[in-house]
Amino acid sequence: MGYILALDQGTTSSRAIVFDETARVVASAQQEFEQIFPKAGWVEHRPMDIWNTQLACAQKAMQQAGLQGRDIAAIGITNQRETTVVWNRKTGQPVYNAIVWQDRRTAATCDRLREQGKAPLIKRSTGLETDAYFSATKLSWILDHVAGARAMAQAGELAFGTIDCWLIWSLTRGAAHVTDVSNASRTMLLNIHSLQWDDELLELFNVPRSVLPTIVDSSGLMAQCDASLLGAPIPIAAAAGDQQAATFGQTAFAPGEAKNTYGTGCFMLLNTGAEVVESHNRLLTTVGWRMNGQTHYMLEGSVFMGGAVVQWLRDGLGMIQHAAEVEPLAASVPSTDGVCLVPAFAGLGAPHWDPYARGTLVGMTRGTTKAHIARAALESIALQTVDLVQAMQRDGAAPLCELRVDGGASNNGLLMQIQADLLGVPVVRPTVTETTALGAAYLAGLAVGVFDGLDSLKANWTVDARFEPAMGIDERGALLDRWHRAVERAKGWADA
Ligand code: G3P
Repeated sequence: MGYILALDQGTTSSRAIVFDETARVVASAQQEFEQIFPKAGWVEHRPMDIWNTQLACAQKAMQQAGLQGRDIAAIGITNQRETTVVWNRKTGQPVYNAIVWQDRRTAATCDRLREQGKAPLIKRSTGLETDAYFSATKLSWILDHVAGARAMAQAGELAFGTIDCWLIWSLTRGAAHVTDVSNASRTMLLNIHSLQWDDELLELFNVPRSVLPTIVDSSGLMAQCDASLLGAPIPIAAAAGDQQAATFGQTAFAPGEAKNTYGTGCFMLLNTGAEVVESHNRLLTTVGWRMNGQTHYMLEGSVFMGGAVVQWLRDGLGMIQHAAEVEPLAASVPSTDGVCLVPAFAGLGAPHWDPYARGTLVGMTRGTTKAHIARAALESIALQTVDLVQAMQRDGAAPLCELRVDGGASNNGLLMQIQADLLGVPVVRPTVTETTALGAAYLAGLAVGVFDGLDSLKANWTVDARFEPAMGIDERGALLDRWHRAVERAKGWADA
């Protein structure tokens, strides 16, 4: 038996899942860690929390499965993307907290870059919008604000990495400083055409080349974990950003295939194959994965608040005790009765890209109850997805005949029905909604021969539920219109 250990390092929790050679889940472990909000719009994680929770989950999942290190054929890593860590190469100690992808502290830097006319260059080279979401301005911020950091970086004493890279460094106890090409494509420092770090961008963001990791394929042997950690020098055979891994886990291998993941945010990726498609509707062009020397590109719509809206109802408002309670609460009313929530808590991502937008709740009356707000919260997740689909279609994507979904919030049946209604196409949920970890396991298993090819993986994909649209076209139009009016009110709210 060849087992694969998938490490899924997400925004709010670390997870480890052991898969067997039939891609069945054998054991899993999950641990949340602290979210740090030092100022309005800032979001940080402690890199050591990320590493310690991830290692503990790996050990726990292996123990639950009754497996030793020698039983694991390979490790596959998938992770929250863009989140930026800088550490001392000698001591392995981070010089600052990880700056999380949701963090808006560098919005003004991005404004300046746009004013200087740099956005077209950035878009052309990286496929990305000039936005604080990506790693480059976060990395410069750390080098500029941590005492002595820039001098140490110039002297080659510091290392930068996204979370894949930080985990591989930690798993190898500093022997490997590598990142996969899909994660590299989210830094804003990678030229997505040459797939190399781009000198012009390094100069623009004032980043010394010495801090950067080596870029490797998403699937393939990249390092071995230190034997003292998991009981054997297990090969690390895959790394990919979580959204790209989820696309692989959904077996959307062919151009034209797409998926939408409802995690902390919502991320829709459309496979465009070997072609780099430039968006004219403010979507991102990104690397999906590279394996056997072949690169697959994607068009991506990134929405910053997806499932996290439900977390906010629970933790921010105390409206529910458990996330699962949102479904019956929202279902207790037939509509939001005119209430509209724009969950721009971390600004707005695609297709609006407004870092100064803020959460906005409009349309309330004396008759508004928490059930209406809960329903508006679910609708907001689905409405943001509709905006992404429409942008993709304006970019020339073929009309959607169904939407493949995954991620934690895809288990909410009411949300999926609302999604089908608002899109006007069926929504299809696979049996395995843990497609992120599954994708990482597939990428690793292919590299070490546990899985024998893409066709057999495709055959593993089975449907759990299909949601058919049931809303009339006029009602859909009215809801979309109201949503777009509310979005305009949310824009530009915070001070620059
Ligand atoms: O780009 C951010 C994304 O990778 C975060 O994913 O699953 O934590 O919402 P998730």
